[in-house]
Amino acid sequence: MSAPLAGRIALVTGASRGIGAATAARLRGAGATVIRAARSAMPPTEGMHDFRVDLADAGARTAFLDAVEAAHGVPHLIVSNAGAFILAPLEETSDDLLREQLAINLEVPFAVARRFLPAMRRRGSGHHVLVGSVADLRAFPENAAYAASKFGARGLHEVLVEEYRGSGVRCTLVSPGPTDTAAWDPFDPDTREGFPDREAMLRPDDVADAICWAVTRPARAHVESIRLSPR
Ligand SMILES: NC(=O)c1ccc[n+]([C@@H]2O[C@H](COP(=O)([O-])OP(=O)(O)OC[C@H]3O[C@@H](n4cnc5c(N)ncnc54)[C@H](OP(=O)(O)O)[C@@H]3O)[C@@H](O)[C@H]2O)c1
Repeated sequence: MSAPLAGRIALVTGASRGIGAATAARLRGAGATVIRAARSAMPPTEGMHDFRVDLADAGARTAFLDAVEAAHGVPHLIVSNAGAFILAPLEETSDDLLREQLAINLEVPFAVARRFLPAMRRRGSGHHVLVGSVADLRAFPENAAYAASKFGARGLHEVLVEEYRGSGVRCTLVSPGPTDTAAWDPFDPDTREGFPDREAMLRPDDVADAICWAVTRPARAHVESIRLSPR
């Protein structure tokens, strides 16, 4: 089948670059109409509809979700990917930093899921993909805020799997290891001890391929989680 997602509406958050941009392109390639959301401008692309929004701003997020539903209805597929990576020792993690990390990595996927999953249940079908991290299960130094957000996101995913089991709504957690994106730019991993070289990291397309694979399985098959690491 060349276009397994033809006729499907896919919402991808954090689609302006990195894993989200690669995923949007893969889903479009599989035939979906793709709604991309991010704060930055995205290059106009056939079959994609772009929303510039700060998803961490609750009011702007609600207006965005309303606009998506008004223009496109309830999406068939959501990839909750928007995220940020704060690397800091506990002592240097201020309340503001912690709040910022929890907002984009945990509160945003929570709010997006709560908005659309009930309607997916009523429809009897849908797919929710949450982009977690190797750090949603493993602890690394300087990851207190990031781990809190990603362990929390994995917890959210695991609850969704149970609450929606048998409803026709499938939930998939995709947890990548280090992936060469702009998220690493502030940290220069190539020169920092204990960090993988960028060359050895996954590429955004590797993660996008895993997501695309999970969402194109037959409706009877539920891929609950994928953990993807560099070799
Ligand atoms: N790279 C890795 O090694 C790695 C490993 C494991 C998991 N992950 C996870 O993968 C996901 C994507 O990360 P990435 O590496 O692709 O990072 P990235 O290149 O920095 O991309 C992050 C995306 O999220 C969007 N975003 C961030 N804050 C936002 C906000 N407040 N409102 C709307 N959009 C926002 C950004 O768009 P704007 O800046 O334009 O708003 C961008 O499109 C994240 O959840 C991350 O935790 C990454």
